[in-house]
Amino acid sequence: MKFRTLDDLGDVTGKVALVRVDLNLPMHDGAVTEDSRVRASAPTILELADKGAKVLLLAHFGRPKGARNSEQSLSMVVGAVEAVLGREVMFVPEIAGDVVAQTIGILGPGGIAILENTRFWPGEEKNDPALAKAIAAHGDIYVNDAFSAAHRAHATTEGLAHLLPAYAGRSMQAELAALAAALDNPAKPVAALVGGAKVSSKLDVLQNLVNKVDHLIIGGGMANTFLAARGVAVGKSLCEHDLAATCEEIMTAADKAGCTVHLPYDVVVAKEFAANPPSLRTANVHEVAADEMILDIGPAAVESLGDVLKTCRTLVWNGPLGAFETPPFDAATVALARTAAALTREGSLVSVAGGGDTVAALHHAGVAGDFSYISTAGGAFLEWMEGRELPGVKALEVG
Ligand code: 3PG
Repeated sequence: MKFRTLDDLGDVTGKVALVRVDLNLPMHDGAVTEDSRVRASAPTILELADKGAKVLLLAHFGRPKGARNSEQSLSMVVGAVEAVLGREVMFVPEIAGDVVAQTIGILGPGGIAILENTRFWPGEEKNDPALAKAIAAHGDIYVNDAFSAAHRAHATTEGLAHLLPAYAGRSMQAELAALAAALDNPAKPVAALVGGAKVSSKLDVLQNLVNKVDHLIIGGGMANTFLAARGVAVGKSLCEHDLAATCEEIMTAADKAGCTVHLPYDVVVAKEFAANPPSLRTANVHEVAADEMILDIGPAAVESLGDVLKTCRTLVWNGPLGAFETPPFDAATVALARTAAALTREGSLVSVAGGGDTVAALHHAGVAGDFSYISTAGGAFLEWMEGRELPGVKALEVG
């Protein structure tokens, strides 16, 4: 896919760049608790500002459903953005109209402003052409640096791209390059690790992946559903028994496509879900008692999955292998993350991970910095793994 990047910009001195970023940041008591999305877009914002553009940042926060409220105003993130950029940033309580025009008049070349939460206007999520036109009227160029919001066909993620010369920002560019290297044109063999609680939330992901990867590693609660579909008694484990036929279909499709599905053959079980419970034990999958639940995959399975990764050149990771927030059920996720990180450091594996839980798990394992690429996206990463076209990306396509 071809798209314009900031390398294709002409002289932007004094021009207005409307830049879509993702400022949907984790907050607690009105303070930003995690700023990686700001750090991801900082290079784009600073590059445009340093080239003399007036930079107006467009972003959403939460799901306010088309109405203003003070708890979801983007005024709350201005301090966090200033801290990352090391520049002063104005806040504008509108996204179009006189107040925005006045702001542009006040901003000098290189000035930066954050406009209000775009989802305060109902036209944003409806991709209303009138709203997109009103916003576009203020800009000379549009830059989309919010891959993590690109699965939404909204006025500021999709509509604007058709109204102004449109460019992918540096973070968008890096995401697209990393994801293309992971699934579109990867070094083979390719492994995908898909974990998390429910098969039902990742059905499309699994169906797409079996046709694209050589090894599909299934972990988390999802593995229980697959094990149960194979006739394994999983006791009290989290399990979607009604999806047995679907799991069978996925395994048959994998077989046909030459994709090996890896399910654990040993597991960590307990009678209660608590940190370090007294009933904790490691068991063969065929020896789970009726009153036990599977909470992590076992050490033998982790070791053999490590061996699988050693034969692979590419890994795409979404979802933890166990209930990683509660020790010791983080053990498999941490161990395999460290193996993947070591292989990446050695240069034998390209490793790409995405999704909020996954990124938290990799940070917890202390290896987030060692992966080849960590996506800023949650929902958009999953839709990409499903093989879907993301409207915000599609709108940037040229030629
Ligand atoms: C995200 O946090 O994943 C993106 O900002 C998209 O948010 P949304 O799911 O509310 O559209």
